[in-house]
Amino acid sequence: MNFLSDTITLPSEDMMNSIMNAHLGDDVYGNDATVNELEKLAAELTGKESSCFMPSGTMANLASILAHSPRGSKVLAGDESDIYIFEAGGASVCGGIMYEPIYTQPNGQLSIESLEQAFPFDEEDPQFALPSLICLENSHNRMGGKVLPLSYLEEVYKFSCDKEIPIHMDGARIFNAAEALGVNVKEITQYADSLQFCLSKGLSAPIGSIVAGTKNHIDKVRRIRKMLGGGMRQVGIMAAPAIVALKNNIDRLGEDHQKAKKLAFGLEKIPGIHIDPSEVETNIVLFKVDPSVMTWEQFLKLTEGQGITLSEMGYGRIRAVIHRHITSSDVDKAIEIIQDVMVQKSHIS
Ligand SMILES: Cc1ncc(COP(=O)(O)O)c(C=O)c1O
Repeated sequence: MNFLSDTITLPSEDMMNSIMNAHLGDDVYGNDATVNELEKLAAELTGKESSCFMPSGTMANLASILAHSPRGSKVLAGDESDIYIFEAGGASVCGGIMYEPIYTQPNGQLSIESLEQAFPFDEEDPQFALPSLICLENSHNRMGGKVLPLSYLEEVYKFSCDKEIPIHMDGARIFNAAEALGVNVKEITQYADSLQFCLSKGLSAPIGSIVAGTKNHIDKVRRIRKMLGGGMRQVGIMAAPAIVALKNNIDRLGEDHQKAKKLAFGLEKIPGIHIDPSEVETNIVLFKVDPSVMTWEQFLKLTEGQGITLSEMGYGRIRAVIHRHITSSDVDKAIEIIQDVMVQKSHIS
């Protein structure tokens, strides 16, 4: 049972068939009909003027940041965000852009007060790098799949308009966020000038992400994608399963959320596991193992030995991600195995 990530999902049979039947062309010339169809669909779904297919979420975030932010400016990004932690400092390397890490609250939010503090007291003072972009993550991976409420998004959006800088949303799992809020994804995206979402996570396509935004922004993103080496030729073979993912797999994300809740409630009953099930909002479950029973490293080793793959998400937090290949009985089995691992270990120690 692999709870490592929703990125491990494999393409469905429908996706494989779509690859065989895709109409292909050279996408660097804009001639791949399948990519064009995907980009049109993604723009419509997110309520944006235009969109661009990208090889990965990392490149999608990077291209969008580079398109928004000039050299020497600073990007305000959460100190627990994927952009800040897991994307190899791309905007600094490629764009001469500084990241200003903003404290991430346990609910995934960056408070207006802490964002405000990143703005220099005197913008005319040439000592300071000027903020050019706010990045939000929704749902928030390292905060356990937390969803940013619409009222918060509205407030940050208003703040960004007052400050005259845009918002880029890392919406790798934005459809999970929409499902959790029970709203159309456009209710969320209206508060972001640009966003990226991943096709290759819960949506289960093998490869790819989308950046969506204004036509002007996406034109810039497309040029930057080429510069980064992400311009691909007959890439309709990747776009075809992505179209299937958007058509078939958004509506099923709620099932993953229910299983995540079920796992959380099961884990709550196990002595030595620390978890609050009310914290679980989407498909990500974070919990801790009481260090008096064992270390998180020992826990991961023992559970792996029993056929359960989990990961660590910083500060000893164990992450279990639910996805299309995890069944309800897998969740039951996982709870049983974790219970056994904890009981055996407490008897030994
Ligand atoms: C929140 C978030 N953003 C961005 C990414 C990067 O996506 P990719 O792995 O496609 O580069 C990930 C990947 O796990 C993620 O969780």
